Amino acid sequence: MKRDLLEITDLSREEIRWLIDWARRLKDQQRRAISYRPLVGKTLGLLFEKPSTRTRVSFQTGMYQLGGDVVFMSPQELQLGRGETVEDTARVLSRYLDVLALRTYSHSTIEIFARHASIPVINALSDKFHPCQVLADLMTIQEVFPELEDTKVVFVGDGNNVASSWVNLAIRIPIRLTLAVPPGYEPPADLIEQAKRSGARVEILHDPLEAVDGAHVVYTDVWVSMGQDRERRERIRIFTPYRVTPSLMSMAHPSAIFMHCLPAHRGEEVVDEVIDGSQSVVWEQAENRLHLQKALLLFLLGQI
Ligand code: CP
Ligand code: NVA
Repeated sequence: MKRDLLEITDLSREEIRWLIDWARRLKDQQRRAISYRPLVGKTLGLLFEKPSTRTRVSFQTGMYQLGGDVVFMSPQELQLGRGETVEDTARVLSRYLDVLALRTYSHSTIEIFARHASIPVINALSDKFHPCQVLADLMTIQEVFPELEDTKVVFVGDGNNVASSWVNLAIRIPIRLTLAVPPGYEPPADLIEQAKRSGARVEILHDPLEAVDGAHVVYTDVWVSMGQDRERRERIRIFTPYRVTPSLMSMAHPSAIFMHCLPAHRGEEVVDEVIDGSQSVVWEQAENRLHLQKALLLFLLGQI
């Protein structure tokens, strides 16, 4: 049966660890310029409703490096933009492609695709989740802190798609997750409930200073996600106390790292001194998207 990755909980703990092991292996091979092309003859479709730098380019180059091909599509260029249904588009694309990654405004669009496609479907970011991001982030964290068991990850800012994926990850992986978000900007209550019921160590606080105390990882994302531009002014006002500054970083563990999924809005959620500072691992984090997604493609295409 085909597998999809719509949210982290579509994977077991063992599968997540397996993907990270493979991603590390692929990273090492890439560094040593060893050619590995098991996906010759396979085609990845990328259907993106929103802009992307990292996800699009890492999936595209990753697929090329594995020997495969890529077709990039935006809805406006497809009959989808003229009213062909998502269901029919999914059925048709399944006849040409081997795997499909989707970036959509509404998570339900990806769910409908997954239901009607006969090929694996990957969530390349929706309004609810960004699973590829946090898988690669976990790999980056493990490069610095190999023992995950008591690693304290603090997400500061908006309880958005990336924050929700962190909650999802905490259901599968034994990290200590603290979210520091303004009241009313928490991830969905049912997701937090699900995490708590599963025994995940997830805590929600509103004070960023209290939250980052002893943090091994201080993580943030933009305050205004794609599709929320009309709320910009209001959001900037509400989120200003959640900016990651050197003084906030000084409250974390002395060996803490700073992470950001990028793109960053410098001067908003993070200042230059932090993102360009010695604790920042954001470029390694961006690179790891490539290696992790290569492992994911191999996994979903039954090669590992
Ligand atoms: N982090 C991330 O998904 O970046 P892009 O929007 O550039 O793909
Ligand atoms: N939360 C951001 C993440 C971008 C990678 C957004 O949805 O725009």
